[in-house]
Amino acid sequence: MTKKAFIFDLDGVIVDTAKFHFLAWKKLADDLGISFTEHDNEQLKGVSRVRSLEIILNLGGVNMTETDKLIHLKEKNEDYLSYISEMTHADVLPDVPRILNFLKAHHIPIALGSASKNAKQILEKVGLLNIFDAIVDGNEVSKAKPDPEVFLIAAQKVAAKPENCVVFEDAIAGIQAANQAKMLSIGVGEKEVLHQAKYVFHDFTEISTEFLEKLLD
Ligand code: BG6
Ligand code: MG
Repeated sequence: MTKKAFIFDLDGVIVDTAKFHFLAWKKLADDLGISFTEHDNEQLKGVSRVRSLEIILNLGGVNMTETDKLIHLKEKNEDYLSYISEMTHADVLPDVPRILNFLKAHHIPIALGSASKNAKQILEKVGLLNIFDAIVDGNEVSKAKPDPEVFLIAAQKVAAKPENCVVFEDAIAGIQAANQAKMLSIGVGEKEVLHQAKYVFHDFTEISTEFLEKLLD
């Protein structure tokens, strides 16, 4: 059997933090008088913190000095951290533990590939820090998704070839990154949004053991 590895995005895949990112960005956009909807927010998913701010400023046609950008980025992160401060294991998305346990039982390496600089803190809060064989987060990558860098580093860390990796993603940019890395992309979310993925499931409860077993062949 070829050595397989599974790579998980964090926000919106393992935990439902995508909604907290949205709330914190929405607050910032409101403060700046920029209209920002959940539809606009799809462009921010999977994208780095700095790039997210630039997208919002572009939406509103607002120019800002680098100093002001740093102030707003700090504020946004503080708001976000206050939203996630109460998270516990109960905030892990449905059936994520079932999938992780299945992979562990089959000795398949599990890696995290996230743009978030808060990734380790969140995994620790929800009690999943130690289940990952490798963690690649926003502190380690220089090129944001849709660049494949984050997933290629993750594959390297678990000594798997990119073409033998399976990626779970909720973001358009993340699916594009996985496809560019020549990995098998699985979207978690809406089919209409994630149509570039090889497979799309609404959530992990829809992923059967038979499907997982097929991925291991
Ligand atoms: C990604 C999220 O996982 O991480 C983005 O989808 C977020 O919405 C990005 O902006 C960076 O996260 P953080 O926690 O470093 O601000
Ligand atoms: Mg995500």
